[in-house]
Amino acid sequence: MKPAERTVLADHRRYLVDKISGAVLDLGAGTGAMFPYFSEATADGGNLTLFAIEPDPHMRRQAVKRARKLGLDIEIESAGAEALPFADDSFDVVVASLVFCTIPNFDTALSEVARVLKPGGEFRFLEHVRGEGAVGVAHDALAPAWHTVAGGCHLNRETDEMFRDDDRFELVDYTRVEGVPQVAPVVRGTLRRRRNGSILSRFV
Ligand SMILES: C[S@@+](CC[C@H](N)C(=O)[O-])C[C@H]1O[C@@H](n2cnc3c(N)ncnc32)[C@H](O)[C@@H]1O
Repeated sequence: MKPAERTVLADHRRYLVDKISGAVLDLGAGTGAMFPYFSEATADGGNLTLFAIEPDPHMRRQAVKRARKLGLDIEIESAGAEALPFADDSFDVVVASLVFCTIPNFDTALSEVARVLKPGGEFRFLEHVRGEGAVGVAHDALAPAWHTVAGGCHLNRETDEMFRDDDRFELVDYTRVEGVPQVAPVVRGTLRRRRNGSILSRFV
């Protein structure tokens, strides 16, 4: 991932922390790829109270090490996105980078994001999604094998459609980058939790 981090992903990750402040949750932090960007945001004057969840113990250990190295004050919890160990209306911003492709129970996790966000709070996302046309067909064919070798990642998930269709949130910003070469479209954007909508599942 290192070349991709430097070339393609850095700009997207900066988008996720742009003018960020308040209580922030990094969902599925992995080894802490967002942590240098939280540090940058703090150095730029952002007043952040940082939390992360990561279910994989190996990844979590790496994340703890990275936070220490950066001198980043962040509380890292062992939890999955489907059962967040936080009270309702806890966060100003929830950040998800390259994680909703892997979360087994998408709808439960998105309900949890809606629950822990304050009304008016932001859900900022960066995800790879199913391609269009022949690329999408190739993604469909490769998806089962990819799921096995890539830690449960769904190569052909239409994550952006699922985010945009959810009426507990208002779409504030959305960008789709087809990628070069056009093998893995990337989407980034911001949803805002509606102030007076229900936080219950959209299926209720
Ligand atoms: C591709 S990594 C992305 C890590 C990091 N967010 C980043 O930007 O590099 C996907 C992460 O999702 C985590 N994950 C898997 N299932 C999850 C779940 N149910 N809830 C939260 N995170 C999960 C994995 O352990 C892994 O760390």
